[in-house]
Formats: sequence, C-alpha cells, structure tokens
Amino acid sequence: MKSLALILFSLILLGCTDGGKIEKTEKLTVNNLIAQGKLIFNRKHLGKNKVVGCVLCHSTKKGVVIIGPSLAGLSIRAPHIVPNEDARQYISKAILNPDAYIVEGFLPGTMLATFEDALTKEEMNALVEYLLQLD
Ligand code: HEC
Repeated sequence: MKSLALILFSLILLGCTDGGKIEKTEKLTVNNLIAQGKLIFNRKHLGKNKVVGCVLCHSTKKGVVIIGPSLAGLSIRAPHIVPNEDARQYISKAILNPDAYIVEGFLPGTMLATFEDALTKEEMNALVEYLLQLD
C-alpha cells in the first residue's frame, strides 16, 4: 500500500513538472527566441558532429562577405526571392536545403548539404526568428 502511494505521488509530481515545462515554453517570448537564435548563430560549431557554424561563413554586417553572403537586410529581401515563399519559408529552406536556391555570385555546395541533423527543431525555430529580424 505504501509503495502504491509512493507511485501515485511520483506520478502526480511528474505531471506537475511536465505541466510546468509546457507553461514555460508558452511563456517564451519572441524576444527570448531571437536572443537564443543569436547565440546559436554565433556558435562556431553546431550539433554533436560539430559542423561548421553559421558565423564562420556569414556576417550580419552589410556588405561583409566571408564565405557566404552577408545576412544583413535578410528580412527585407527574403520575402521577394522565391515566388510563393514567404520570408520564413525561404530562410528555413536556405538552412535545410541550401542548394534549392543559390544566391547570385555564390556557388552551390558551399554550405553544408543540410543542417537538419545539427539543429533541433527548437534551435531551428530560434535561428529563423533571429534571421527574420536582420535588417
Ligand atoms: C561553409 C560556409 C557556410 C556555412 C557554415 C553556412 N553558410 Fe549559409 N550560405 C553559404 C553560402 C556560400 C551561401 C550562398 C549559396 C547558397 O545560396 O546556397 C549561403 C546562403 C545562405 C542563406 C541565403 C542568403 C540570402 O541572402 O538569400 C542563408 C539564409 C544562410 N546561408 C543561412 C545560414 C545559416 C543560418 C547557417 C548556420 C546554420 C549557415 N548559413 C551556415 C555558406 C555557409
């Protein structure tokens, strides 16, 4: 009987922590996401395979080309690059399937084939949110 009570108690406790987590996630404001995205963008390596991070190839300063194009002004041009793709779709695709569209003056295959394995869904969301406000 005692152990049953203990199990029940643990279950209730588990339930509480889960609930707390969801509430916390909901409270994540866009600003939190942007800040988180900026941190991810600036990491030199991503994921457990430590693939080269965004900041080693991209600057967010206007006109500064490292290996990839400067991402300054991305929020302004992203909605107009590929017909029927809004800024969010364009940016997500640019990360997960970089060769789907090649920026003029750059070569395909320079960016990793995909960052899908190196970024969790949450990290991807935060990163896109950060890139979406670069002007
Ligand atoms: C090894 C260098 C390299 C790394 C690392 C890299 N990129 Fe790129 N990126 C490029 C190159 C080169 C292009 C231009 C060719 C193309 O369009 O695929 C590009 C294009 C882009 C574009 C399209 C820009 C535009 O003006 O339309 C976005 C957005 C982008 N990268 C985001 C990222 C993000 C976010 C990361 C990190 C997860 C990242 N890149 C990592 C080299 C890199």
